[in-house]
Amino acid sequence: VPVAILISGRGSNMQALATACADPTFPARVALVLSNEPAAPGLGWAADQGLPTAVVHHRQYDSRADFDAALDARLRAAGVRILCLAGFMRLLTPAFVQGWGDRVLNIHPSLLPAFKGLHTHERALESGVKLHGCTVHLVRPEMDSGPIVAQAAVPVRADDTPETLGARVLAQEHRIYPLALRLLAQGRLRVSGAVCHVRDA
Ligand code: GRF
Repeated sequence: VPVAILISGRGSNMQALATACADPTFPARVALVLSNEPAAPGLGWAADQGLPTAVVHHRQYDSRADFDAALDARLRAAGVRILCLAGFMRLLTPAFVQGWGDRVLNIHPSLLPAFKGLHTHERALESGVKLHGCTVHLVRPEMDSGPIVAQAAVPVRADDTPETLGARVLAQEHRIYPLALRLLAQGRLRVSGAVCHVRDA
């Protein structure tokens, strides 16, 4: 299944997904790495791997709707069937999200529904939770919401800083994002309302 990975920055989750897709037995392949940010460091890595890359620069569009229309056109031209948002820092319009149905994944660095939005590791430390983690979910128009596909939890240690906690979470992001993409590409996800179930292989 042809997949596009959408990034805005570093792209370490993109690397984890692309590395998984490089295995010939994996059910998805990277058809495009697309960034809204021309200077995204992840684009260089992708190009070095020989992956097709594209930039759709949000500042060149007057509205979210125009940007999303350009994004949509570029993705459809590449023959993409699944989208993986991987540190993609743009909110997508409801029309865009509806057009792609249950074929868009996002990764978020918290155990949703806790800590939607930014600075999740700082907020987890401030709130005193003892477990933190990451979530891969199907995308809905509301930010950081949608049926949960996979989660991983990590302990919060007494001496953690946002950086040490974030690094522990990031290692789990790189593990569960390819797992979730595999399930979606295999057609094993069933959505009923807010809940996503995984069918047996
Ligand atoms: C990750 O923590 C991801 O969960 C969040 O943004 C960060 C992106 O990091 N959505 P990277 O670009 O994948 O390295």
